[in-house]
Amino acid sequence: MNKLIKKTADLILSSKKTIALTGAGISVESGIPPFRGKGSLWDKIDPMEYAHINSFLKDPEKVWKGLLIEMGEIISQAEPNDGHKGLALLEKNQLLDTIITQNVDGLHQFAGNSDVIEFHGSFAWQRCLECHKPLETTKVDLSKIPPECECGGLLRPDCVFFGEMIPEDSLWRSRKISSECDLMLVVGTSAVVQPASIMPEIAKRNGASVVEINPEETPLTDRITDCFLKGDAGKVMNQLVSALGIK
Ligand code: OAD
Repeated sequence: MNKLIKKTADLILSSKKTIALTGAGISVESGIPPFRGKGSLWDKIDPMEYAHINSFLKDPEKVWKGLLIEMGEIISQAEPNDGHKGLALLEKNQLLDTIITQNVDGLHQFAGNSDVIEFHGSFAWQRCLECHKPLETTKVDLSKIPPECECGGLLRPDCVFFGEMIPEDSLWRSRKISSECDLMLVVGTSAVVQPASIMPEIAKRNGASVVEINPEETPLTDRITDCFLKGDAGKVMNQLVSALGIK
């Protein structure tokens, strides 16, 4: 493992443009359960029943009660862990340009990263289906479920549901920076949900190195990954930070 950490540190130091793609795994050490695997969200509830836009539109009360209220509570209590903090330190030391995250928890910004593409949107905001006005999630009145905007319209999280498109600007910019980077750090994603999972392929095709940090192998590991750092994001990032000697 030490050799792989050293190899990754060298890749980071020699790269002119490094970006990261992150997924639910990076927030596991902050107490947010992942979507897949043992003890995961999709183990407990069926995503097609609770996380598809058609399910939300058909029965918003069910989706708020079965998914969104709990999700909001978990996210509001979560704080960045060493995985998030390590990526923030990389940016502070000009060793990381941008993070593309599939997470909606806002923890990368909380940790200090300034350029974060929220590929699947953000749970920090809700918007009204009628007047489209945005409202901070912390200001939503949950005494009535589903919650409503002051205009009486239904509120929905500013996240991407299954069955919805990725916001055009996020998709366009993610593809662009993936094709331009020299190094992509892929942290805590199962890499099974498209189009996010295509970004490491774009990077690789354009000559970048790909480093994966994950306790489990993924569909990328054998095909795309140059350096697989097996382990929890927080622990591996701590090793990387000390190999780089940054503060
Ligand atoms: P998943 O839940 O699919 O995968 C989590 C990944 O994190 C797995 O590969 C785990 O092995 C890994 N993991 C677990 N603990 C970890 C730790 N401590 N450190 C590092 N890695 C760890 O999450 P995503 O790949 O983010 O989309 O899922 C992608 C999308 O599927 C989500 O954004 C969400 C979901 O359906 C939507 O809701 C649209």
